[in-house]
Amino acid sequence: MCSVSCCASRVSFSRLEDFESLAQKRLPKDVWEYYGYPSCSGFTLQENKRAFQRYRLLPRVLRDVSSVDTTATVLGSRLDMPVALSPTAHHSLAHPDGEKATAKGAASANTAYVVSSFANHSLEDIAQAAPGGVRWFYLIPQNDPSRTKELLRRAESAGYSGIWLTVDQPRFQFQQRPESKMESAAGVMRLPNLTFEDVRGDASSQEFTTYLSDNVKQPITWEDVIWLRKNTQLKIVLKGILTAEDAEEAVRVGVDGICVSNHGGRQLDGVPATIDALPEVVRAVDGKAEVYLDGGVRTGTDVLKALALGARCVFIGRPALWGLACNGAEGVHQVLEVLKDQLNLAMAQAGCTQMSDIKPSLVVHESYYLHGHHCHTGTCNN
Ligand code: FNR
Repeated sequence: MCSVSCCASRVSFSRLEDFESLAQKRLPKDVWEYYGYPSCSGFTLQENKRAFQRYRLLPRVLRDVSSVDTTATVLGSRLDMPVALSPTAHHSLAHPDGEKATAKGAASANTAYVVSSFANHSLEDIAQAAPGGVRWFYLIPQNDPSRTKELLRRAESAGYSGIWLTVDQPRFQFQQRPESKMESAAGVMRLPNLTFEDVRGDASSQEFTTYLSDNVKQPITWEDVIWLRKNTQLKIVLKGILTAEDAEEAVRVGVDGICVSNHGGRQLDGVPATIDALPEVVRAVDGKAEVYLDGGVRTGTDVLKALALGARCVFIGRPALWGLACNGAEGVHQVLEVLKDQLNLAMAQAGCTQMSDIKPSLVVHESYYLHGHHCHTGTCNN
């Protein structure tokens, strides 16, 4: 149970929804909507959460679960839990310390944070805010490869140990950035891991938009992944894969990790929930890279289901922003602790004391019971 100070009173939060409600009250309406909004109808956004409900847990009983260990090794780093932070943009809209606070919160919970190229603070400042933290960088390649190399060098020397490429966003709509006006209102003018010294104008200006369109490489292709593999020693993760075919290609080009993701329902609407896509990707990868998942993870049992279906770690996007809006670094820490406590309890209740006990036999899709019921009652025509 975590305490967040809300105005004068202290509130005990044991569910992520509590952070969500308080964040909605604290954030300006336009920022709240920007963080939450889905693409198109919001089908995929909803489906991410609904799909978790369609899996059933099959616990094993009478095991000694007096001590449960939630630690996990992810992309070579030992973490206190297999739950870490997805890259999300513009944290200064949620808190004046922005990504520096997020990094502190993640580091104090001893887990990893993927810093977005759309961060409002520099890679170096974020690293300095939480020197002991495990951090990875979501890189946006530039049209000029020497600039991409410079970003890689900066990440390497600031202690980032992995590079993430987001592969489900072939087009950026810089012209329609809803966040540009908010940034201006919040006095945030910077995207220091995406722009270089020749940038002109503040984040809300037309010059700035034109600069981004002129310099950011879009779309990126498999050639860019191969280029990246040749140009950095850091681990590489592709985020946004949903099919076996792309997972196999990713393994062929030598990536270290794949994050099954649909961008939290913010890119192509109508794609499947990530928990439904996960088993196919895990099968295709066949242990040759680590597989992660994000999208709709809100409880410890969601985490457990994803781990059972083969994810080595899950990531959260919006919930970290809620924590940040509620209580800065401490709020991010608290969100992570809630998930860790819930995972710990769910593992004990399922008869698991460590990561290696979490096996595919722990979950079954609800259709297993629906079909069984039809057959038992003699109404099954198949
Ligand atoms: C994102 N996401 C995202 N992804 C990415 O690869 N680069 C980015 O810069 C961003 N920015 C971003 C901003 C905001 C406000 C949100 C909510 C999301 C997607 C993010 O990494 C992640 O895939 C989803 O947020 C996961 O889903 P949940 O946990 O939010 O349901």
